[in-house]
Amino acid sequence: MSQQLQSQPQSRNKEQAVSNKETINPSSSTGKVYLLGAGPGDPGLMTVKGKTLLEHADVVIYDALVSPAILQMISPQAETINAGKRRGRHSKLQKETTELLIQKAENNAVVVRLKGGDPFVFGRGGEEMSDLIAAGVPVEVVPGITSGIAAPAYAGIPVTHRGYSSSVTFVTGHEAVGKYRPDVNWDAIAKGSETIVIYMGVYNLPNIISKLLEAGLKLDTPIALIRWGTRSDQEELVGTLDTIINQIEATEFKAPAIVIIGRVVDLHAQLALGRPIMLPINNS
Ligand SMILES: C[S@@+](CC[C@H](N)C(=O)[O-])C[C@H]1O[C@@H](n2cnc3c(N)ncnc32)[C@H](O)[C@@H]1O
Repeated sequence: MSQQLQSQPQSRNKEQAVSNKETINPSSSTGKVYLLGAGPGDPGLMTVKGKTLLEHADVVIYDALVSPAILQMISPQAETINAGKRRGRHSKLQKETTELLIQKAENNAVVVRLKGGDPFVFGRGGEEMSDLIAAGVPVEVVPGITSGIAAPAYAGIPVTHRGYSSSVTFVTGHEAVGKYRPDVNWDAIAKGSETIVIYMGVYNLPNIISKLLEAGLKLDTPIALIRWGTRSDQEELVGTLDTIINQIEATEFKAPAIVIIGRVVDLHAQLALGRPIMLPINNS
Protein backbone atom coordinates (compact mmCIF):
# COMPACT_ATOMS: atom_id res chain seq x y z
CA MET A 1 0.00 0.00 0.00
CA SER A 2 2.84 2.41 0.80
CA GLN A 3 4.30 2.10 -2.76
CA GLN A 4 0.96 2.92 -4.25
CA LEU A 5 0.70 5.88 -1.89
CA GLN A 6 4.05 7.29 -3.02
CA SER A 7 3.32 7.11 -6.73
CA GLN A 8 0.13 9.18 -6.70
CA PRO A 9 -0.89 12.70 -5.66
CA GLN A 10 -1.39 12.82 -1.90
CA SER A 11 -5.12 13.42 -1.68
CA ARG A 12 -6.06 10.73 -4.22
CA ASN A 13 -3.75 8.24 -2.53
CA LYS A 14 -5.44 8.71 0.81
CA GLU A 15 -8.94 8.34 -0.55
CA GLN A 16 -7.99 5.15 -2.36
CA ALA A 17 -6.26 3.79 0.70
CA VAL A 18 -9.33 4.12 2.85
CA SER A 19 -12.16 3.33 0.46
CA ASN A 20 -12.90 1.86 -2.92
CA LYS A 21 -16.25 3.57 -3.02
CA GLU A 22 -16.88 6.43 -5.41
CA THR A 23 -17.29 9.72 -3.65
CA ILE A 24 -20.80 11.15 -3.50
CA ASN A 25 -19.53 14.40 -4.92
CA PRO A 26 -16.41 13.66 -6.97
CA SER A 27 -15.24 17.28 -6.94
CA SER A 28 -11.45 17.41 -7.24
CA SER A 29 -11.14 20.27 -4.73
CA THR A 30 -13.35 18.88 -1.97
CA GLY A 31 -12.17 16.16 0.37
CA LYS A 32 -14.33 13.56 1.97
CA VAL A 33 -15.74 13.30 5.47
CA TYR A 34 -15.82 9.88 7.11
CA LEU A 35 -18.26 9.47 9.99
CA LEU A 36 -16.24 6.86 11.82
CA GLY A 37 -17.36 4.72 14.74
CA ALA A 38 -14.55 4.37 17.28
CA GLY A 39 -16.21 1.49 19.12
CA PRO A 40 -16.71 1.55 22.88
CA GLY A 41 -13.13 1.92 24.09
CA ASP A 42 -11.00 -1.19 23.70
CA PRO A 43 -8.76 -0.32 20.73
CA GLY A 44 -8.96 -3.94 19.60
CA LEU A 45 -12.60 -3.31 18.76
CA MET A 46 -11.79 -0.61 16.18
CA THR A 47 -12.54 -1.88 12.67
CA VAL A 48 -9.68 -2.45 10.21
CA LYS A 49 -11.22 0.18 7.93
CA GLY A 50 -11.42 2.64 10.79
CA LYS A 51 -7.80 2.12 11.82
CA THR A 52 -6.66 2.64 8.22
CA LEU A 53 -8.64 5.87 8.08
CA LEU A 54 -7.06 7.18 11.28
CA GLU A 55 -3.60 6.38 9.90
CA HIS A 56 -4.29 8.36 6.71
CA ALA A 57 -6.43 11.20 8.04
CA ASP A 58 -5.53 14.84 7.48
CA VAL A 59 -7.94 16.05 10.14
CA VAL A 60 -9.69 14.16 12.95
CA ILE A 61 -12.54 15.79 14.88
CA TYR A 62 -13.34 13.57 17.83
CA ASP A 63 -15.94 13.38 20.56
CA ALA A 64 -15.37 13.38 24.31
CA LEU A 65 -16.23 9.70 24.78
CA VAL A 66 -13.55 8.43 22.37
CA SER A 67 -10.99 6.56 24.47
CA PRO A 68 -7.33 7.68 24.69
CA ALA A 69 -6.23 4.29 23.32
CA ILE A 70 -8.16 4.95 20.11
CA LEU A 71 -6.74 8.47 19.79
CA GLN A 72 -3.25 6.93 19.76
CA MET A 73 -4.09 5.37 16.38
CA ILE A 74 -4.32 8.78 14.71
CA SER A 75 -1.48 9.71 12.38
CA PRO A 76 0.93 12.13 14.13
CA GLN A 77 0.70 14.33 11.01
CA ALA A 78 -3.06 14.77 11.36
CA GLU A 79 -4.66 17.86 12.84
CA THR A 80 -6.76 16.76 15.81
CA ILE A 81 -9.71 18.70 17.20
CA ASN A 82 -11.61 17.77 20.35
CA ALA A 83 -15.23 18.58 19.53
CA GLY A 84 -16.14 17.94 23.19
CA LYS A 85 -14.02 20.87 24.36
CA ARG A 86 -15.86 23.19 22.05
CA ARG A 87 -19.08 22.33 23.78
CA GLY A 88 -21.18 25.27 24.84
CA ARG A 89 -24.80 24.52 24.44
CA HIS A 90 -25.50 21.25 22.66
CA SER A 91 -27.40 22.71 19.69
CA LYS A 92 -24.64 25.24 19.11
CA LEU A 93 -22.04 22.52 19.18
CA GLN A 94 -23.82 20.54 16.48
CA LYS A 95 -24.02 23.50 14.10
CA GLU A 96 -20.43 24.53 14.79
CA THR A 97 -19.16 21.01 14.31
CA THR A 98 -20.91 20.62 10.98
CA GLU A 99 -19.55 23.97 9.80
CA LEU A 100 -16.07 22.89 10.86
CA LEU A 101 -16.39 19.63 8.93
CA ILE A 102 -17.45 21.49 5.79
CA GLN A 103 -14.59 23.97 6.18
CA LYS A 104 -11.98 21.24 6.77
CA ALA A 105 -13.25 19.21 3.79
CA GLU A 106 -12.57 22.22 1.54
CA ASN A 107 -8.83 21.97 2.15
CA ASN A 108 -8.15 18.38 3.18
CA ALA A 109 -8.56 15.04 1.45
CA VAL A 110 -9.49 12.88 4.41
CA VAL A 111 -11.51 14.38 7.24
CA VAL A 112 -12.54 11.95 9.97
CA ARG A 113 -15.42 12.66 12.30
CA LEU A 114 -14.65 10.20 15.08
CA LYS A 115 -17.51 9.20 17.35
CA GLY A 116 -17.77 6.77 20.25
CA GLY A 117 -19.44 3.44 19.50
CA ASP A 118 -21.41 3.58 16.27
CA PRO A 119 -22.10 6.95 14.62
CA PHE A 120 -25.72 6.07 13.84
CA VAL A 121 -26.62 4.77 17.32
CA PHE A 122 -27.48 7.80 19.47
CA GLY A 123 -24.47 9.48 17.87
CA ARG A 124 -26.04 12.20 15.73
CA GLY A 125 -24.34 10.65 12.73
CA GLY A 126 -27.54 10.75 10.73
CA GLU A 127 -27.97 14.48 11.32
CA GLU A 128 -24.36 15.27 10.41
CA MET A 129 -24.59 13.15 7.27
CA SER A 130 -27.75 14.99 6.11
CA ASP A 131 -26.10 18.37 6.69
CA LEU A 132 -22.96 17.36 4.81
CA ILE A 133 -24.93 15.99 1.86
CA ALA A 134 -27.00 19.20 1.80
CA ALA A 135 -23.73 21.18 1.71
CA GLY A 136 -22.45 19.07 -1.20
CA VAL A 137 -19.63 17.50 0.84
CA PRO A 138 -18.82 13.86 0.02
CA VAL A 139 -19.46 11.76 3.11
CA GLU A 140 -19.37 8.10 4.08
CA VAL A 141 -20.31 6.30 7.27
CA VAL A 142 -18.00 3.66 8.76
CA PRO A 143 -19.94 1.76 11.43
CA GLY A 144 -18.42 0.98 14.81
CA ILE A 145 -19.26 -1.48 17.56
CA THR A 146 -21.88 0.11 19.73
CA SER A 147 -21.46 0.25 23.51
CA GLY A 148 -24.97 -1.16 24.01
CA ILE A 149 -23.78 -4.55 22.82
CA ALA A 150 -20.06 -4.48 23.63
CA ALA A 151 -20.21 -3.21 27.23
CA PRO A 152 -22.67 -5.93 28.31
CA ALA A 153 -20.63 -8.51 26.38
CA TYR A 154 -17.45 -7.57 28.27
CA ALA A 155 -19.40 -8.00 31.51
CA GLY A 156 -20.58 -11.47 30.49
CA ILE A 157 -24.09 -10.38 29.51
CA PRO A 158 -25.36 -11.41 26.06
CA VAL A 159 -28.21 -9.10 25.02
CA THR A 160 -30.13 -12.09 23.63
CA HIS A 161 -29.97 -15.75 24.66
CA ARG A 162 -32.08 -18.71 23.58
CA GLY A 163 -32.98 -19.54 27.16
CA TYR A 164 -33.53 -16.02 28.50
CA SER A 165 -34.43 -13.40 25.90
CA SER A 166 -35.59 -13.38 22.29
CA SER A 167 -35.95 -9.60 21.97
CA VAL A 168 -33.89 -6.53 22.77
CA THR A 169 -34.65 -2.82 22.64
CA PHE A 170 -31.99 -0.10 22.50
CA VAL A 171 -33.37 3.11 23.93
CA THR A 172 -32.17 6.49 25.14
CA GLY A 173 -32.70 7.36 28.79
CA HIS A 174 -32.06 11.01 27.99
CA GLU A 175 -35.47 12.39 27.33
CA ALA A 176 -34.68 16.09 27.15
CA VAL A 177 -37.10 17.79 24.82
CA GLY A 178 -35.49 18.56 21.49
CA LYS A 179 -32.57 16.19 21.98
CA TYR A 180 -34.17 12.90 21.24
CA ARG A 181 -37.85 12.28 20.77
CA PRO A 182 -39.19 12.88 24.26
CA ASP A 183 -41.93 10.30 24.04
CA VAL A 184 -40.12 7.03 24.80
CA ASN A 185 -42.92 4.56 25.36
CA TRP A 186 -41.62 2.74 28.45
CA ASP A 187 -44.89 0.90 28.86
CA ALA A 188 -44.61 -0.64 25.38
CA ILE A 189 -40.92 -1.41 25.87
CA ALA A 190 -41.54 -3.13 29.21
CA LYS A 191 -44.27 -5.27 27.71
CA GLY A 192 -42.67 -5.98 24.34
CA SER A 193 -38.96 -6.50 25.00
CA GLU A 194 -37.25 -9.08 27.17
CA THR A 195 -33.95 -7.18 27.26
CA ILE A 196 -33.83 -3.39 27.57
CA VAL A 197 -30.53 -1.62 26.87
CA ILE A 198 -30.52 2.03 27.90
CA TYR A 199 -27.98 4.62 26.71
CA MET A 200 -27.54 7.82 28.74
CA GLY A 201 -29.86 6.41 31.40
CA VAL A 202 -28.01 6.75 34.72
CA TYR A 203 -29.23 10.23 35.68
CA ASN A 204 -32.84 9.51 34.81
CA LEU A 205 -32.87 5.94 36.15
CA PRO A 206 -35.22 6.44 39.15
CA ASN A 207 -37.85 7.85 36.82
CA ILE A 208 -37.32 5.11 34.22
CA ILE A 209 -37.55 2.35 36.83
CA SER A 210 -40.81 3.69 38.22
CA LYS A 211 -42.29 3.73 34.69
CA LEU A 212 -41.13 0.15 34.06
CA LEU A 213 -42.63 -0.99 37.39
CA GLU A 214 -45.91 0.72 36.52
CA ALA A 215 -45.83 -1.18 33.23
CA GLY A 216 -45.64 -4.48 35.07
CA LEU A 217 -41.96 -5.36 35.50
CA LYS A 218 -41.25 -7.06 38.83
CA LEU A 219 -39.12 -5.54 41.57
CA ASP A 220 -36.74 -8.50 41.38
CA THR A 221 -36.02 -7.96 37.64
CA PRO A 222 -32.23 -8.06 37.21
CA ILE A 223 -30.42 -4.90 36.14
CA ALA A 224 -26.76 -4.11 35.44
CA LEU A 225 -24.87 -0.87 34.87
CA ILE A 226 -21.58 -0.96 32.95
CA ARG A 227 -19.41 2.15 33.12
CA TRP A 228 -16.56 2.68 30.63
CA GLY A 229 -17.38 -0.71 29.13
CA THR A 230 -14.54 -2.55 27.31
CA ARG A 231 -11.93 -0.18 28.72
CA SER A 232 -9.38 -1.25 31.31
CA ASP A 233 -11.27 0.83 33.91
CA GLN A 234 -14.64 -0.83 33.24
CA GLU A 235 -16.93 -0.82 36.30
CA GLU A 236 -20.00 -2.95 36.85
CA LEU A 237 -22.95 -2.72 39.22
CA VAL A 238 -25.48 -5.56 39.31
CA GLY A 239 -28.73 -5.64 41.26
CA THR A 240 -32.49 -5.59 40.81
CA LEU A 241 -34.98 -2.85 40.00
CA ASP A 242 -35.65 -2.76 43.74
CA THR A 243 -32.05 -2.35 44.90
CA ILE A 244 -30.13 -0.56 42.16
CA ILE A 245 -30.82 3.07 43.09
CA ASN A 246 -29.51 2.49 46.62
CA GLN A 247 -26.49 0.69 45.16
CA ILE A 248 -25.79 3.63 42.83
CA GLU A 249 -25.89 6.03 45.75
CA ALA A 250 -23.84 3.79 48.03
CA THR A 251 -21.10 3.27 45.45
CA GLU A 252 -21.34 6.77 43.91
CA PHE A 253 -21.63 5.10 40.54
CA LYS A 254 -21.48 7.67 37.76
CA ALA A 255 -22.25 8.02 34.05
CA PRO A 256 -21.32 7.26 31.32
CA ALA A 257 -22.77 3.82 31.55
CA ILE A 258 -24.95 1.38 29.71
CA VAL A 259 -27.94 0.02 31.62
CA ILE A 260 -29.18 -3.52 30.88
CA ILE A 261 -32.48 -4.77 32.25
CA GLY A 262 -33.79 -8.33 31.93
CA ARG A 263 -33.08 -11.95 32.77
CA VAL A 264 -29.93 -12.01 30.61
CA VAL A 265 -28.26 -10.07 33.43
CA ASP A 266 -28.38 -13.28 35.50
CA LEU A 267 -25.80 -14.75 33.10
CA HIS A 268 -23.27 -12.18 34.33
CA ALA A 269 -22.09 -14.35 37.25
CA GLN A 270 -21.36 -17.32 34.99
CA LEU A 271 -20.20 -15.69 31.73
CA ALA A 272 -18.04 -12.96 33.26
CA LEU A 273 -15.51 -15.75 33.80
CA GLY A 274 -14.87 -15.65 30.06
CA ARG A 275 -14.42 -11.90 30.02
CA PRO A 276 -12.35 -10.55 27.12
CA ILE A 277 -8.89 -9.17 27.71
CA MET A 278 -7.82 -5.86 26.20
CA LEU A 279 -5.01 -6.50 23.77
CA PRO A 280 -2.32 -3.89 23.19
CA ILE A 281 -2.39 -2.42 19.70
CA ASN A 282 0.77 -2.17 17.66
CA ASN A 283 0.68 1.22 15.95
CA SER A 284 3.87 0.78 14.00
C1 LIG B 1 -24.35 9.96 23.02
S1 LIG B 1 -24.41 8.25 23.41
C2 LIG B 1 -23.33 7.63 22.18
C3 LIG B 1 -23.50 6.15 21.93
C4 LIG B 1 -22.52 5.62 20.91
N1 LIG B 1 -22.77 6.20 19.60
C5 LIG B 1 -22.52 4.11 20.81
O1 LIG B 1 -22.91 3.56 19.78
O2 LIG B 1 -22.08 3.47 21.77
C6 LIG B 1 -23.42 8.22 24.86
C7 LIG B 1 -23.84 7.09 25.79
O3 LIG B 1 -23.38 5.86 25.30
C8 LIG B 1 -23.04 5.02 26.37
N2 LIG B 1 -21.63 4.67 26.26
C9 LIG B 1 -20.76 5.05 25.33
N3 LIG B 1 -19.55 4.45 25.50
C10 LIG B 1 -19.70 3.67 26.58
C11 LIG B 1 -18.83 2.76 27.27
N4 LIG B 1 -17.58 2.54 26.87
N5 LIG B 1 -19.32 2.11 28.34
C12 LIG B 1 -20.58 2.30 28.75
N6 LIG B 1 -21.44 3.13 28.15
C13 LIG B 1 -21.01 3.80 27.08
C14 LIG B 1 -23.37 5.77 27.65
O4 LIG B 1 -24.70 5.45 27.99
C15 LIG B 1 -23.26 7.19 27.19
O5 LIG B 1 -23.99 8.06 28.00
